[in-house]
Amino acid sequence: MKQRTLILLKPDCMERRLAGTVLARFEQKGFRIVGMKLMQVTPEIASKHYAEHVEKPFFPNLLGYITSDPVTAICLEGRDVVNVVRKMVGTTKGYLAEPGTIRGDFSISGQKNLVHASDSPESAEREIAIFFRPEELVTWKSCDDAFLLSESEREEA
Ligand code: CMP
Repeated sequence: MKQRTLILLKPDCMERRLAGTVLARFEQKGFRIVGMKLMQVTPEIASKHYAEHVEKPFFPNLLGYITSDPVTAICLEGRDVVNVVRKMVGTTKGYLAEPGTIRGDFSISGQKNLVHASDSPESAEREIAIFFRPEELVTWKSCDDAFLLSESEREEA
């Protein structure tokens, strides 16, 4: 199976009507959407998803932010998707992120940084299971697959 990652279009992304713009970048790069839903993050889901940050001083702020408005949870699939998406998203703080990255182009905040993306294949597996039941993920192939990768690359990926 090709690699998968979890994307969250965070409340600021939804409020600013940037969901389509951000999602378009991932689609145009060549990744496939295998799961997607608009949802309200509860404190319970947030505490699971951000387990590594629960003890951090900024966690109450982070909890308020991520539960403030809906998010769009997306499971993306494709070759090396975890690493490639992290590069496309840019470094955590929007004001430090490189122009050309999503945060670098659209965010000047350390917290309101528009997008979450899993930081490793192991995190992706854990996070996808928090946001999606197995039957909510769809296995499919898009017809442009043959144009995105060479034949030998498709065999390796
Ligand atoms: P992300 O890296 O996707 O996951 C953790 C989130 O916590 C991060 O995005 C920010 O939205 C938020 N965050 C990280 N550091 C801080 C901080 N110092 N103050 C407030 N929020 C933060």
